[in-house]
Amino acid sequence: MFSRTSVERTCVLALGLVATGSLVAAGPCDLFSSGGTPCIAAHSTTRALYSAYAGSLYQVKRGSDNTTTNIAPLSAGGVANAAAQDTFCASTTCLITIIYDQSGRGNHLTQAPPGGFSGPESNGYDNLASATGAPVTLNGQKAYGVFISPGTGYRNNAASGTATGDAAEGMYAVLDGTHYNGGCCFDYGNAETNSHDTGNGHMEAIYFGDSTSWGSGSGSGPWVMADLENGLFSGLSAGNNAGDPSISYRFVTAAIKGEPNQWAIRGANAASGSLSTYYSGVRPSVSGYNPMSKEGAIILGIGGDNSVSAQGTFYEGVMTSGYPSDATENSVQANIVAAKYATTALTSGPALTVGSSISLRATTACCTTRYLAHTGTTVNTQVVSSSSTTALKQQASWTVRAGLGNSACFSFESVDTAGSYIRHYNFALLVNANDGSKQFHEDATFCPQTGLNGQGNSIRSWSYPTRYFRHYSNVGYIASNGGVHTFDAATSFNDDVSWVISTGFA
Ligand code: AHR
Ligand code: AHR
Ligand code: AHR
Repeated sequence: MFSRTSVERTCVLALGLVATGSLVAAGPCDLFSSGGTPCIAAHSTTRALYSAYAGSLYQVKRGSDNTTTNIAPLSAGGVANAAAQDTFCASTTCLITIIYDQSGRGNHLTQAPPGGFSGPESNGYDNLASATGAPVTLNGQKAYGVFISPGTGYRNNAASGTATGDAAEGMYAVLDGTHYNGGCCFDYGNAETNSHDTGNGHMEAIYFGDSTSWGSGSGSGPWVMADLENGLFSGLSAGNNAGDPSISYRFVTAAIKGEPNQWAIRGANAASGSLSTYYSGVRPSVSGYNPMSKEGAIILGIGGDNSVSAQGTFYEGVMTSGYPSDATENSVQANIVAAKYATTALTSGPALTVGSSISLRATTACCTTRYLAHTGTTVNTQVVSSSSTTALKQQASWTVRAGLGNSACFSFESVDTAGSYIRHYNFALLVNANDGSKQFHEDATFCPQTGLNGQGNSIRSWSYPTRYFRHYSNVGYIASNGGVHTFDAATSFNDDVSWVISTGFA
């Protein structure tokens, strides 16, 4: 129940908004503030988390000239101006370089540095996320989330106002409940300030995924758990706790909070209904977790020691000072539901028809008679024409299937080897038999968009949306626009990733 003072605070806040003529409903951080547990960090690429916030939400950097721009809400308290991003990033690639802190404390998230583990970028840094991997709508308006592929991570090791030691804090995040894996660790929250594992109790973060390396819940996952360092906890004890349910919502609200010898896990469908409490009680009876030794850095998409194997999608999240009441969190959940998160198209450009046979012609000047083909398991480009052999025509023809890992995108089955599909492995394109695994399905799912050089389609990897079908030395890869691999060369990128799709040769 609301206390009288919190009701009074809410009324004063509402009146203040009326008085300034901006009749915007209270945002999540206004609600935490009213509850006496203010946000000390507020991150979102989709919307403002305070009704009065009109500043920058995030920064993107484009591949064409490496310049950056900031994306703000359409109006104070509103949804991100995705059209501004689309204009800035037209005909090139864009990465999310900064996720700004809306709390005013400057707790921004940037590319995570190496720690106990190194990321895949130069100097051991983690990858940055594509700006276009996670499109959604909020109340019908387009926005983009942060699509974390393995290797991607954001961090702030010098945050201010975050909980340290055994101090109380709360946090929530809105995530994609269908994008997860068992790697360590898709986290958002409090972690070590030196990016190394400094011991039990040195973290307190939301975890989402189906790792069973430490804890687990009922069913086969994914689960919301608390990453408390050297352990993902699903309840009172280390290991399995049946009270923590598998999550099957497309949009999920995940909440963790902790104070001296008390913590809780809560979760909900972010698109409807209310929060459930999966655990609330004393600290784990394992040495090091009571009292806690929180350090106060902020991580997104990685473990405390920069473990970088996990994947997931983040839309918004905050951290608070103090242990938020269930009632405050419940009002925040109502606000999230009212934001009306919904899915939208993952594809653009010339449409593909499921069941049809297609061929994909390269558009780089060197190679306009070459088509995407395969020789055994190797994907390459080969010169094909109407007078080619039937065998070659079949090698260069692909049957369009609904995406094995996400039916909003596509998979490409080999015409000459039924049951085998184009998939990426170590970022090379291969033709492999579908082994039925979630990993294979995701590796074989691609989202066509308007060709980056203005011709045909560019074929984005669903699971690594910074990467596109590319020919390089006439071999097929998923390549990023600049990066550590030879095949990531920025030279000729737009042409090498643009393909004219026609009816298949066979
Ligand atoms: O607690 C799980 C993980 O263990 C942490 O995120 C990481 O720092 C350590 O490897
Ligand atoms: O291609 C990148 C990754 O390499 C794939 O997702 C995985 O199957 C392999 O380890
Ligand atoms: O794949 C042929 C060419 O090889 C590409 O156009 C170029 O980027 C690479 O050198």
